[in-house]
Amino acid sequence: MPTSVDIAHLPGEGGPIAAVRNTLGWMTHGIDHLLAQHRRFGPVYRSVFAGYQVVCVADPDLVLSIAREDETWSTSLAWLTFFQGIDAKINAAKMDSPLFLDFKPHRDARKVFQPAFGHSATASYFDAATPIFEQAIERWMARGHVSFKDEIRSLMMKVSTRIFLGVDDEAAAFEKALIDYWEGPLSLTRSKLLSPSWRRSIRGHAVLCEMLRSRISARRASGGDDLFSRLCAKTQEPETLVDDDGLVRLMIGIKSAAFATTSSGLTSMAYLLATHPEWQERMRAEAIALSKGRINYEQSNQLEVTSRVWKEAMRLYPIAPYTARRALHDTQLGQWRIPAGTFVMGMISAVLRDSNLWSNPDRFDPDRFTPERAEDKRHKAAFLPFGIGGHTCTGMHLANAEVKAFWHALLTRCRFTLERDYKARHTYMPAGIVSGDVKLRIERL
Ligand code: HEM
Repeated sequence: MPTSVDIAHLPGEGGPIAAVRNTLGWMTHGIDHLLAQHRRFGPVYRSVFAGYQVVCVADPDLVLSIAREDETWSTSLAWLTFFQGIDAKINAAKMDSPLFLDFKPHRDARKVFQPAFGHSATASYFDAATPIFEQAIERWMARGHVSFKDEIRSLMMKVSTRIFLGVDDEAAAFEKALIDYWEGPLSLTRSKLLSPSWRRSIRGHAVLCEMLRSRISARRASGGDDLFSRLCAKTQEPETLVDDDGLVRLMIGIKSAAFATTSSGLTSMAYLLATHPEWQERMRAEAIALSKGRINYEQSNQLEVTSRVWKEAMRLYPIAPYTARRALHDTQLGQWRIPAGTFVMGMISAVLRDSNLWSNPDRFDPDRFTPERAEDKRHKAAFLPFGIGGHTCTGMHLANAEVKAFWHALLTRCRFTLERDYKARHTYMPAGIVSGDVKLRIERL
């Protein structure tokens, strides 16, 4: 399905100069760039992002309407626009990355992997992640400083390699392959001859396939409690029989959806806590009151201040910019006609700063999430950092659990400040994250 549908009747901009300006705007000024576009063109506008012609929808009611599962909107076609061509075996009719599937095949896929994200699975991932966090934090304390942005990304990769694949080594190899794979959708041209990033993306994907495929029989035999072992076992059951290709594609889909999301959020949160020491103290007091020692997943649910600060970090510095959909037939968004094939981005990030929904939306104010104020409940689309509808983030509870395990382990051991004070911007790289290295000075309690 082409992205070059006729949408000239919509407000907004197009063409190669706008494409370059807009892509740079996303990368260097993130949400501020998106809000400026929204103010300039209105709640529904056409734009170009990394060479794709898109329609951005920043009105909360319209964001809800494109999440409908009524066969008007396809998630699969939207995400395939980015990734098609990297993997010759994409199979939108069978088991595949969940974002490449729609409707019944998608619901079937979710039945296969949902149990691996259930309550008891998340509790065991929490227990597996905690000692890895503790070891890293001990190293940072001994050193007295950490370059947080880089080191948390590698640390989260190590954690995810442990809880997804049951292995402690090879995190660096997986990280490299995923970084390469993610370069593909942003390549200026999809030619193996002309584009090194496109070539790296294809190679990265092939490496991921090989790393996963070579582990299937061992993980099937292991009966382990990592995510891959759970999926290997589940896909052996007669009613969910999935071939090895499908299993590998499913796992790559999950791993790439998870890539750099939680670590980006943790980086923005670290910056906010370093620049708002009173909130760092409030979170520390809560963590120590709960326990100075190791906690489990159940206990972590009592970390209410942590939860509020995490939500506020995701609201102020959104991680996922949009939910991606394509119109399957001609339809309407408010007053605007949307032709079949149009790529539509539901700008969940812009809604997170909507001044009609949030008081002082640019202010860091975690108490807006208290039950008394409950600003997130003012509209169904007010707070959707993990998306909405049938494609809502499968890893939401895992991400929240990892964040609580990490901050509990860190704040009960040390306090931190920025090595060099600076005013961060929000950027998209491609996940939303604060600018700068977030270098921290660490002081043992
Ligand atoms: C703070 C961290 C995270 C954020 C903000 C986030 C955000 C999102 C969003 C907005 C979507 C919906 C995309 C759309 O509708 O087009 C999504 C989907 C998804 N996420 Fe996350 N995510 C995070 C972490 C994770 C983690 C840790 C995992 C896996 C372990 C994960 C796995 C997935 C999967 C598999 C989907 C596709 C679900 C489906 O299509 O059924 N995410 N995520």
